[in-house]
Amino acid sequence: MSDQGVVDKSKRQFLTTALTVVGAVGTGYIAVPFLSQMQPSTKAKAAGAPVEIDISKLEKGQLLRAEWRGKPVWILDRPPEILEILATDTAKLADPNSLESKQPESSQNEFRSIKPEIFIAVGLCTHLGCSPTFRPETAPNDLGPDWKGGFFCPCHGSGFDLAGRVVSGVPAPTNLDVPPHRYITETRIIIGEESTEADT
Ligand code: FES
Repeated sequence: MSDQGVVDKSKRQFLTTALTVVGAVGTGYIAVPFLSQMQPSTKAKAAGAPVEIDISKLEKGQLLRAEWRGKPVWILDRPPEILEILATDTAKLADPNSLESKQPESSQNEFRSIKPEIFIAVGLCTHLGCSPTFRPETAPNDLGPDWKGGFFCPCHGSGFDLAGRVVSGVPAPTNLDVPPHRYITETRIIIGEESTEADT
């Protein structure tokens, strides 16, 4: 069985492209089918089976949308300029070190990921479970001059950075969850299984 994931593809101006609608076809981004995700049967997925995802075609700045246990899972390839922002721009975050948030031990670091550039998260807001929108651009009109790129939940206005870390003073209580995952090759990831030292 195969499902389709979706990639939000940014062009060159990852940091500066303004969007009005994200997650759909819009200026600077295109949604394209991502056909190489391999999935177990529908019955197995419902039972929570791990899913295998091929990220070999994922490009810098792209967000791949997949599914695991009936939940959206995002895989984002972050360019170096984003990693620099994540490492330094932490003053407005509620839990910058993710001490109160859910992620496997292998992702307990400033980038919340096994590989710094590849971020994987459950795409559900930790407030009441809406799915935040992907807003990688800086200082868009609707989110203000301090916005450095992230995920924005339209339901009640919670913002998260591109490591899924929630900003202070919004309804969402914790950072986005990072699901258990591990790499079986450089470009193939199992969502739903913990990484071990043998994987690294
Ligand atoms: S569900 Fe996201 S802010 Fe309420």
